[in-house]
Amino acid sequence: MEQNLLPKHIGIIMDGNGRWAKLKGLSRTAGHKMGAKTFRKIVQYCNKLGIGYLTVYAFSTENWKRPQEEIRAIIELLREYLIDAPNHVDENVQTKFIGNLSCFDDDIQQMIADCEKTSEHFSGLHLNIAINYGGRDEIIQAVKSLYQDIQNHQVRYEDIDEKLFSDYLYTKNQPDIDLIIRPSGEYRLSNFLIWQSAYAEYVFMNNILWPDFNEKCLDRALEEYAKRNRRFGGI
Ligand code: FPP
Repeated sequence: MEQNLLPKHIGIIMDGNGRWAKLKGLSRTAGHKMGAKTFRKIVQYCNKLGIGYLTVYAFSTENWKRPQEEIRAIIELLREYLIDAPNHVDENVQTKFIGNLSCFDDDIQQMIADCEKTSEHFSGLHLNIAINYGGRDEIIQAVKSLYQDIQNHQVRYEDIDEKLFSDYLYTKNQPDIDLIIRPSGEYRLSNFLIWQSAYAEYVFMNNILWPDFNEKCLDRALEEYAKRNRRFGGI
């Protein structure tokens, strides 16, 4: 596919791990484990295709409502990913974690800081992993920081515009989302990148659950995206 028809920034809602596990008579944890493998595979594929930015929704501010055992299992997968991160520096992926990270254990926060520091000048795919992330929460945090900067005379009220506000979001200096992909047959955004997706194209795939998602599924979503006529409010 021609490079100019590729989205600059893709967001993926990695949905359907639980249903995938249930269909196979496995625990929900097994579904998330398989989902984490798929995540690694798709990151590598996006990197290979030359996609600029990929943001994945790994854990939302609402996911704390799930059973403790399931929450622990997802956090354990995150820990395993971080422990393994130094082994894939050769992939050249610049990794960032977005969300309110303060609630995670100290070792996780330290590994996140190390992973971000190590990869900050990498020139491959920019990967954002959203954990304890909520779009509304992100906007509230941005409003609070902006308010503080106005109080401290670092920003003038008259200068507030969309660009300036975007600089207070986790995705500062990153392009807006062009394409949101959600497998599993759910047709909603679920508080994911609500500011950044204002003009995104959406590809909902109802015949696939995240653990089964593969390179061909991504190709299909990219082909669908390339056919869309994006007007950004124009004609
Ligand atoms: C949604 O599917 C999935 C999640 C809430 C967790 C996603 C997490 C991973 C794929 C692991 C990520 C790992 C790392 C290393 C970042 P669901 O459980 O809501 O599925 P269901 O709707 O079928 O129940």
